[in-house]
Amino acid sequence: MEAQNSQFKTKIGLIAATLGSAVGLGSIWRFPAEAQQNGGGAFLLVYIVCVLVLGIPVMVAETALGRAGRSDAMGVFKALSPKTKWWIGGLFGVVTSYLILCFYMVVAGWTLEYLWSSITGTLYSSGADLSRAAMDATYHSRMEEYISSDSSPLIATWIMIIINIGVLLMGVQKGIERCSNIMMPMLFVLLLLFGIYSISLPGSAEGLEYFFKPDFSKISWGVVGNALGQTFFSLSLGMGILVTYASYYPKSTNLVGTSVTVSLLTTVVAILMGVIIFPTVFSYNMDLEQLRGTTLVFVTLPEVFAQMPGGRWWSILFFTLLLVAALTSTISIGEVSVSFIQRRFRKSRIVATLIVLLPLFILSALCSLSFGSLSGVKIFGENIFNFLDMFTTNYLLPITSILAVLFIGWFAPKGVLRNEITNGGRIMGGLSPVVEGVIKYLAPVLILIIFIYGII
Ligand code: TRP
Repeated sequence: MEAQNSQFKTKIGLIAATLGSAVGLGSIWRFPAEAQQNGGGAFLLVYIVCVLVLGIPVMVAETALGRAGRSDAMGVFKALSPKTKWWIGGLFGVVTSYLILCFYMVVAGWTLEYLWSSITGTLYSSGADLSRAAMDATYHSRMEEYISSDSSPLIATWIMIIINIGVLLMGVQKGIERCSNIMMPMLFVLLLLFGIYSISLPGSAEGLEYFFKPDFSKISWGVVGNALGQTFFSLSLGMGILVTYASYYPKSTNLVGTSVTVSLLTTVVAILMGVIIFPTVFSYNMDLEQLRGTTLVFVTLPEVFAQMPGGRWWSILFFTLLLVAALTSTISIGEVSVSFIQRRFRKSRIVATLIVLLPLFILSALCSLSFGSLSGVKIFGENIFNFLDMFTTNYLLPITSILAVLFIGWFAPKGVLRNEITNGGRIMGGLSPVVEGVIKYLAPVLILIIFIYGII
């Protein structure tokens, strides 16, 4: 969404735009990978609890902040509490958004490559007549080879950065959004179809059990910490995006209702992805341990497509939709930094966009090469990509989210939170003290506990 003083015209448009930022690689690529690495059903359960108990309240807090302050990630703190240092919280969000963009762009590049090779047909040139095991090996080694090479993933990543620069410069976000209003529902329907197909594969029951039946012995603080991070990541929390979006919400928007709708729809997408991925993995007897979480989606989905009648076309359709979903998210992340530079340092949009996105050519390259030439470079035992992913998601997002709930709950001028939740006393009635209580007490305490235990 462009930084302008317009407001959303319709309720649907407002939800669609917020959803456009939320649904992206987080739910589609990252969620299944995290589920696989954190015990399947156990992770799903904890994730759902995190969305309900923490994701939704933090989203209400961020949107309340944005609509009350009517400004960007940092500006809202200044608008509501001019003489304090709370704006540092906003600054933190901007930095986090930037770091996320570094590795997110790389995965967007992979998506581009898989779209391209679906179009040219090379992705499916040998797939269909292979046995299951051979096919598994083929797609597995294809992805491994692809990301461990240096040049092609890097070029794909750079192309994605250039596309982002183009969109941000030309200010065609509106156009992209209009596309995404059509494409998001399409993506939804497509995932539903793939899910049904995947359940129909022989042996799928085992996969469904793995994904839906929680093995309670697998739940640890580490798993809870990862689920919390995934919650913030997939709902676009903790970086001021929703603050910015909500500053365009009309006064009549029901913030709690909107947050519940957006959170639940995003979660449905994540669950659909699990339903697509895990039955396939079991049906093909893939070795779950062997699959690197990061590559899971790029190995499993082509296998499904290779088996489906007309698979190549499904593949083209899917990766196109995924690319658009990724683009609406990268733009929403990029917009935080661009509008920050633009307002704060009074730069023109062109200069601000270049200041923000040019360094990304190098920073994203480091992430992209961390599976290739730079795979030897380890930070706390992880390569650069995985370290950055883990560090931003599990550490920075919870911190910025805590700051947001603490600020709106305790430090913003009295009554702001209630006023935003109830739209000046017109809606929510008896429920509003409950929502307020969750935001003021439960959310900060719980996030802090999970955060502390998750680290140790
Ligand atoms: N939520 C998006 C996704 O799932 C990514 C994203 C967009 C994001 N904006 C964000 C993540 C803000 C964290 C914070 O793909």
